Amino acid sequence: MTDATGDGGQVQGAAIEDYLAELRTFPPPEEFARSALVSDRTMYEQAEADPEEFWAAQARALTWFEPWDQVLDWQLPFARWFIGGRLNVAFNCLDRHVEAGIGDKVAFHFEGEPGDRRTITYAQLLDEVGRCANALRSLGIERGDRVAIYMPMIPELPVAMLACARIGAAHSVVFGGFSADALRDRIEDASARLLITADGGWRRGHPVELKANADHALSSGARSIENVLVVRRLGDAAGNLVMQEGRDHWWHELVSGQDPHSPAEAMDAEDLLFLLYTSGTTARPKGIMHTTGGYLTQVAFTHRTVFDLKPETDVYWCAADIGWVTGHSYIVYGPLANGATSVLYEGTPDFPGRDRWWSIIERYGVTTLYTAPTAIRTFMKWGTEYPAAHDLSSLRMLGSVGEPINPEAWIWYWQQIGGGRCPVVDTWWQTETGAIMISPLPGVTTLKPGSATFPLPGIGAEVVDDAGRKLERGGGYLTLTRPWPAMLRGIYGDPERYRQTYWSRFEGRYFAGDGAKVDDDGYLWLLGRVDDVMNVSGHRVSTTEVESALVDHPSVAEAAVVGANDATTGQVIIAFVTLKLGLEVGHEHAEVLRAHVVEKIGAIARPRVVIFTDDLPKTRSGKIMRRLLRDVAEGRDLGDTTTLADPAVVAELRRRAATGSGEE
Ligand code: WT7
Repeated sequence: MTDATGDGGQVQGAAIEDYLAELRTFPPPEEFARSALVSDRTMYEQAEADPEEFWAAQARALTWFEPWDQVLDWQLPFARWFIGGRLNVAFNCLDRHVEAGIGDKVAFHFEGEPGDRRTITYAQLLDEVGRCANALRSLGIERGDRVAIYMPMIPELPVAMLACARIGAAHSVVFGGFSADALRDRIEDASARLLITADGGWRRGHPVELKANADHALSSGARSIENVLVVRRLGDAAGNLVMQEGRDHWWHELVSGQDPHSPAEAMDAEDLLFLLYTSGTTARPKGIMHTTGGYLTQVAFTHRTVFDLKPETDVYWCAADIGWVTGHSYIVYGPLANGATSVLYEGTPDFPGRDRWWSIIERYGVTTLYTAPTAIRTFMKWGTEYPAAHDLSSLRMLGSVGEPINPEAWIWYWQQIGGGRCPVVDTWWQTETGAIMISPLPGVTTLKPGSATFPLPGIGAEVVDDAGRKLERGGGYLTLTRPWPAMLRGIYGDPERYRQTYWSRFEGRYFAGDGAKVDDDGYLWLLGRVDDVMNVSGHRVSTTEVESALVDHPSVAEAAVVGANDATTGQVIIAFVTLKLGLEVGHEHAEVLRAHVVEKIGAIARPRVVIFTDDLPKTRSGKIMRRLLRDVAEGRDLGDTTTLADPAVVAELRRRAATGSGEE
């Protein structure tokens, strides 16, 4: 495929040039399309004709205590949806299903990392949420308060979130992998009155002591916290746990004794449902605000249509952590609003063995798996024997989120996990968008590996150039052209920063910070964060495309590419490459890989240096930290590396970069 891109790089006025052309296409499998919820384009047409009426129709699928008077009030950049409407999110996720007679249906198949299992029905979940809601009330928590939650992936986490929603308190979930300082900062920003935590959780066979971290957070600040509610998860495995008299309460003592009946507050559609802090690597974290009616409308709609949900028969598994927005929207609120049966798994994919996920799929008959490219590339690295050892024939749908998925990773997922029969939906969205925005609909869209394809019905997305002009094809900036129900309502306590961050770069458009290109068929391809775009001899080259060219080589499992400053060319391309397990780094390898990139993309994208590494530095949510790799490549001081999943990886990379065991 020598320069299959044709004139790809030469589009006039392109803000980012596009070089890589993926020619494989996958129409919806016939049998899948025949029984799909959405099987033609009518919904797209209706939504385009009248987006507000389209969203109103989706909102009517929920149960409202009071109808709304007006669908949308849009005072750019501030939106209000379903004005005057009243509803309760927990009621929509629980009570209405139990009232409809499906109380015995399984809401969660929970599996702890040590192998403990619990099956939780909708009726049981409703009771537990009611008890927890009453416990929160007994601690003085009221409508309008903020509650911080710092927990492992155990059923009490969704229970705590739903209990907050039930009484009208906003939750702020802080990912359990975050440090005491990160927890303290987030508590302080939100002035949370209550902290819900656990003695700890299990990770790769070891206890992670969350309560001890929480104590550190509270002793160094976070003065707004009055009470701490603690789930016992580790029991004796928790080290020296101290319960502070008067402040700390055991969940099994305070919650279990409560009345399971607890009235669900009639919340305004625009009342705050939750805050979720985006983990910026440099700047102060932003408390992203999500409200009630619009958020639930869009997460329920997208969960149903993007995953073609058949609630009676599907067993759905989103393998993210609830501490990220993916877990909020697609483990908790979307699936429960739709009455789905889900898997909830506490631990890592390689404990006790590298086949843990595949054994879970086999055990519960999972039909739908939603995960991230970083996980898929890790499985590619480990090899096909682990999934091959299990019966994965229950799967009928696969999803990807979090980063651009390289075409080869997509193909691997399709073949090795999906057995060549399951549509793969590549879903683009953000903490800020609250719900999926750009994605195929599996019964309608012809897939192209690596493309998130088209905006969903009701969503307006366009790629623009530097001047904000719409590009019909070629690379530029991804923007959203109109408000959407689940959009962030702002940054907590900082409306000006909200306007500045998202609405100032292009007039009248939301700018997400991502590069994207449009191909000849109008498909959208995400090109990574625009901060990561490289400038090589005046050409704006996307990191994603070079990485995909590298991953296309049969020996490569994962690659991260950065531009390092260079006196002659502006920047040179440095590639960090992880080979599939069992493959040795031979001397010819760097040259082979560089030639492969030249063949796929062109000489402009040829990496100057290839550095082989067993692992790449990633954030705890699995995104490759290219900023840090840039610092490594340029020999700069690295600053704070505590936000990394594994800081040791960077030390090793620095050593390799410095001793020149990277290959010129
Ligand atoms: C950023 C948002 C949305 C849930 C998890 C991440 C990147 C996300 C895709 C995708 C290419 C993607 C973008 C986006 N991203 N999904 N399908 N293809 N890039 O949430 O932590 O707020 O990150 O993740 O760069 O802006 P987040």
